Amino acid sequence: MESGRGSKTCSGPCQGYGGQQISRRGFLWAGLGSLLAFVSGSFVAAYYYLFPPDVEDLSKVVDVGSPTQFPVGSVRYIPEKRFFIVHDARGFAAISGICTHLGCTVEWFKVPKRFECPCHGSFFASDGTLLGGPAPRPLDCYEILYQNDRLVVNTGRRVAKDYRCKV
Ligand code: FES
Repeated sequence: MESGRGSKTCSGPCQGYGGQQISRRGFLWAGLGSLLAFVSGSFVAAYYYLFPPDVEDLSKVVDVGSPTQFPVGSVRYIPEKRFFIVHDARGFAAISGICTHLGCTVEWFKVPKRFECPCHGSFFASDGTLLGGPAPRPLDCYEILYQNDRLVVNTGRRVAKDYRCKV
């Protein structure tokens, strides 16, 4: 059927790519199939983003050295990974240095024995417990293990604040 301006319109099957006839119904089914493929692909991507598979990310495993480098009572910052190694009477702990308010790096103060955030004043006990300020929760504690005479921290695994590695 010809329109007034010289372009063609179809009232039945139309010509597709390669000269194939595509019915309106076929076109709609193809469109619906593409939409379903897109939506299901998006769900799969979202699922893996929200629930990543339990594969150990080796970039998150850090060898911090021999336990003898961390005497009892010491709190030492590991700047490359932004966490502290705390060695108290119960053992070794790895405490995140990232403030849970807006992500500034906290500092350790021997007196009064606490972590303080320079940005908005949150402060935390040596085990990461939130003591005050706008931060919504304690500092994260990471898994720390003793392997081959070394202390190894996995920043990909959070543990309870009473977790300690004993050597
Ligand atoms: S970022 Fe630490 S208190 Fe705001």
